[in-house]
Amino acid sequence: MRRAIYPGSFDPVTNGHLDIIERGCKLFDEIIIAILVNPNKQPMFTIEERREMLGEVLATLEHGQCRLLVEDFQGLLVQYAIEREADAIVRGIRAISDYEYELQMALMNRRLEPRIETVFMMPAEAYSYVSSRLVKEVFGLGGEIEGLVPKAVEARMRRKLDGN
Ligand code: PNS
Repeated sequence: MRRAIYPGSFDPVTNGHLDIIERGCKLFDEIIIAILVNPNKQPMFTIEERREMLGEVLATLEHGQCRLLVEDFQGLLVQYAIEREADAIVRGIRAISDYEYELQMALMNRRLEPRIETVFMMPAEAYSYVSSRLVKEVFGLGGEIEGLVPKAVEARMRRKLDGN
């Protein structure tokens, strides 16, 4: 049984994240999508809302025999990965610009916990420029985000923006 952790802020989950999860399912029997509880960030969605959105959209995902779980965590990622008896951490890399920071994190995580491997995966080119941060910015300024996030997520963003 191969278990991976796919950590992130998921504020909100994008189609790029879902693409990585789908690909990860080809390699792992179980993926825990782990939302970081980060008191230093001002998120758009609460942890509970992010969990709900992930749950909703994962139900529509093609994941074969791969088991998908949504959790949240605080503190060191590798410590959480060990507690959950994971073999690997999955991270998506969109462009070279992601690589430097991701490499730093992967090497630091390896130093802290050599038993956990980091696996980098590339999303489809169509998502190579998609990030939660940009999606929020564009949407907030009235731009079109169709195809970048699931419909259910866009609807929730609309409600947030309208103050409901
Ligand atoms: O989606 P993000 O915001 O790029 O995800 C970043 C994340 C959650 C992977 C990273 O911030 C993280 O692992 N935080 C947990 C704290 C930790 O372990 N820090 C040391 C990393 S070397």
